[in-house]
Amino acid sequence: MTARIIPVKPFDYVVFGGSGDLAMRKLFPSLYYRECDGQLPEAGRIIGASRRQLSDEDYRAQVHAALQRHIPADYWDETAWQRFAQRLFYLTIDATDPKGFAALAQQLEATRERAQVFYLATAPALYASIAAHLAAVGLNQAQSRLVLEKPIGQDLASSRAINQSVGEHFDEHQVYRIDHYLGKESVQNLLALRFGNLMFERLWSSAQVDHVQISVAESIGLGSRAGYYDEAGALRDMVQNHLLQLLCLTAMEPPTSLEADAVRDEKLKVLRALRPITAANVAQLSVRGQYGDGAVNGEAVPSYAKELGRQSQTETFVALTVHVDNWRWSGVPFYLRTGKRLARRYSEVMIALRPVPHSVFGDEQVVQQNRLLIRLQPDEGVSLHLMTKEPGPGGMRLRAAPLDLSFSEEYAERTPGAYERLLLDVVRGAPTLFMRNDEVEAAWAWIEPILEGWKSSGEAPRSYASGSYTSGLMGPTNSTRLIGRDGRRWHEDRA
Ligand code: BG6
Repeated sequence: MTARIIPVKPFDYVVFGGSGDLAMRKLFPSLYYRECDGQLPEAGRIIGASRRQLSDEDYRAQVHAALQRHIPADYWDETAWQRFAQRLFYLTIDATDPKGFAALAQQLEATRERAQVFYLATAPALYASIAAHLAAVGLNQAQSRLVLEKPIGQDLASSRAINQSVGEHFDEHQVYRIDHYLGKESVQNLLALRFGNLMFERLWSSAQVDHVQISVAESIGLGSRAGYYDEAGALRDMVQNHLLQLLCLTAMEPPTSLEADAVRDEKLKVLRALRPITAANVAQLSVRGQYGDGAVNGEAVPSYAKELGRQSQTETFVALTVHVDNWRWSGVPFYLRTGKRLARRYSEVMIALRPVPHSVFGDEQVVQQNRLLIRLQPDEGVSLHLMTKEPGPGGMRLRAAPLDLSFSEEYAERTPGAYERLLLDVVRGAPTLFMRNDEVEAAWAWIEPILEGWKSSGEAPRSYASGSYTSGLMGPTNSTRLIGRDGRRWHEDRA
């Protein structure tokens, strides 16, 4: 089965930070794949912008080299690259200097009627200045859209400041705040699963759900992002955005439609219903860790401090017990955890149903709780773990077995990356999968007391061995204690 490809209308796509890591690693490969699928219209233009002095030809050579690095050889299509290269241009623009913006306005003058996208793949400190300079040369007209990468701030005050200064020049409906998790196929499948299947919606509340686990495990470490990451840490880098968005999609009420504000209103209600974690309860409800020396996939890797070159109090792992204080979820804990340098990369949402009220099988047989597992990556799919009878003529022996749907087996095509969808949603003017300013601020308002609680406790993050994975343990041992306090354990892939 082939996905339906609907070409978008002609556009001008300007990428600030155009020679940076995000552009080269994610944005251009994603646009290139859309080129291969014939989704980019002939007249569409992509303009990279950064401070460096480069000619169009130099820039094309850079992008070509990046694509060669990031696109597997099987997917290389020389004809598509030739088309892509022809729509690629470069402009030298210093984000703090108005001069380059005048040149940009001139370049876009002839095509003012099209969708104009300004993708800010730069440091957030430059967002306000770029927005102001664009507005000064009239590039905040009705068809202009501004895309903001995370992090949008370091805390509530800085995120408000960014939203306010951008809001002075661009209307809220023109601002697209990216959380790339919302672009993942499997994350959108959460919506399909919940709202396209009556059987799940009927189970989706404290009446049937015992608890929920949301895990995003990574095997990579700090890499080359020391400057940013050590200031941020896992709570700001992953929980404030990706994990809370997953929680929102899991916990929200059915929206009336998939129209942007209908979905975002429901997500906002969830964020506002999160029970605060403050200095008073942070020790019971959170765990933070930092990776030490260890081995991942059989390869020795250094500790966070060694990678960084100094000691640090920044957490690379966080686990939280979260309560959504509303009618539907009262009494149902949501356990969230994420970390770097864990044994392997995987993300999942696991819904554990309540135990059966009475076992007819006697004391020897354990009737496990049904579990619905939504695998987000790497092997996207859904499995429902049911109790079955083990075959055999003897007595009744029970075993949990999965009803398993693997998307890669069911749908033979390549799964598009998250950015592929999101980049073109901006051109289409479809903001459903982007965050509204009040969502970002509500998320910060909930995160901030956790950060303050950690600070006032003065406790350092617990160390865990890189790649640690022993008997269901990922990250620091305290994480097992966190969930164990409620008489539960983390779900791990038992394979
Ligand atoms: C980014 C974080 O937003 O998401 C990174 O800044 C993290 O630290 C990445 O590695 C994870 O994304 P994915 O798509 O690889 O799960």
